[in-house]
Amino acid sequence: MPNKDITIGVLKEIMPGEKRVAVMPETVRELIKDGARVLVETGAGEGAFFRDEDYIEAGADIAASTGEVYRNGHVFLKVKEPIFNKGLDKHEAALLPRDSVLICFLHPANTVNHEMVNILAERNITSFTLDSVPRISRAQKMDALTSMSTIAGYKAVTFASDNLARFIPMMPTSFGFINPARFLIIGTGVVGLQSVATAKRLGAKVKTLDIRPEANEQARSLGVEVIPFDIPETLAVGEGGYARRLPDEWYAKEREVLAPHIRESDVIILTALIPGEVAPVLIDQTMVHEMKKGSMIIDIAVDQGGNCRLSKAGENQLHNGVLISSIANIPARLSVDATWMLARNIMHFLQFITRDGQITIDRSDEIIKEMLVTIDGSIVHKGTLEAMKSGP
Ligand code: NAI
Repeated sequence: MPNKDITIGVLKEIMPGEKRVAVMPETVRELIKDGARVLVETGAGEGAFFRDEDYIEAGADIAASTGEVYRNGHVFLKVKEPIFNKGLDKHEAALLPRDSVLICFLHPANTVNHEMVNILAERNITSFTLDSVPRISRAQKMDALTSMSTIAGYKAVTFASDNLARFIPMMPTSFGFINPARFLIIGTGVVGLQSVATAKRLGAKVKTLDIRPEANEQARSLGVEVIPFDIPETLAVGEGGYARRLPDEWYAKEREVLAPHIRESDVIILTALIPGEVAPVLIDQTMVHEMKKGSMIIDIAVDQGGNCRLSKAGENQLHNGVLISSIANIPARLSVDATWMLARNIMHFLQFITRDGQITIDRSDEIIKEMLVTIDGSIVHKGTLEAMKSGP
């Protein structure tokens, strides 16, 4: 745990719609147990319903202004990446003190964030991104992306239930049965499996498709029908058991296999992802036009470009009677439980990089290697360097 010479600064999020916060009173208590000072910006917990008094009771100090946090902190905890702070007329990355440490979701490979990452490097800031925690057992407690994916999977289904002009479960009436809604979930990683579980709980008829046999097995164990797609495992599964990019002709085959299932679905949840790459297009415009009026697509993979050709980040669009929804930042809509998970993930990571009260960075460790974005004035994150090389 950092010792008392280290002040952990917790900033209020300024990204529009962001309601999560990087610490909760319970994790503050843990962080100060060994003497670290925690300085929380006033109002930082509002979106997750924590009051300044709750943090004070846990032992934190409250900073009356954003500037006070920046001036006094050594290690900074945030949820979202630094953006331009209109109130202070300065980029958050430029407000961070030189040589400080930053832990948050940086999304550093995304082109829009390259300038910000460059500022972090120029200011000699040691930055870690929470979206790159490797999915290995020793890192599970820090795996913020898995935590947030659990929320996205759940929320996609509750969004569908709110917007579908139909019941989800089978509904008996005195004059016959209303059939349950048909869900198709493409990609059954963390998001997809949570969507499956939630849709099943609501009584939907669920079908799934993934290209990894292990993901299909997990979906089957939740009692759903897995659509057969005969793809060689060597083609579909790569290093570390992650999905691989398929040759174009295989995506064409997959779209062919999916087409009849897409036509009969009421709700399609898209979550197919290849780590660190643009998401594959599995639904094109013609397929959307063949869908039932009143049906909907929820494209969760939109941050990576989306699995539906027509998806637009952050937008709900109506195409020929089909709702295509690409809601951005779903976890912020469940700010209480999202904060509950995220604050713990962040605390565990901070504990992991602290030895004898000092932040200690072992660059040979796999977790550090994956999460480290800038250090000693350089950008070291592999996905970011590749994205910077290939340009916008
Ligand atoms: P994951 O890696 O656990 O799952 C992705 C799944 O897609 C894998 O099982 C993979 O085998 C499968 N897949 C890859 N190519 C496929 C193909 N051609 N056909 C069928 N399946 C295929 O990833 P996770 O955590 O489930 O995240 C999924 C997506 O959701 C990502 O794009 C992630 O960024 C996004 N996400 C969005 C959030 C939001 O607020 N909008 C929040 C959390 C996650």
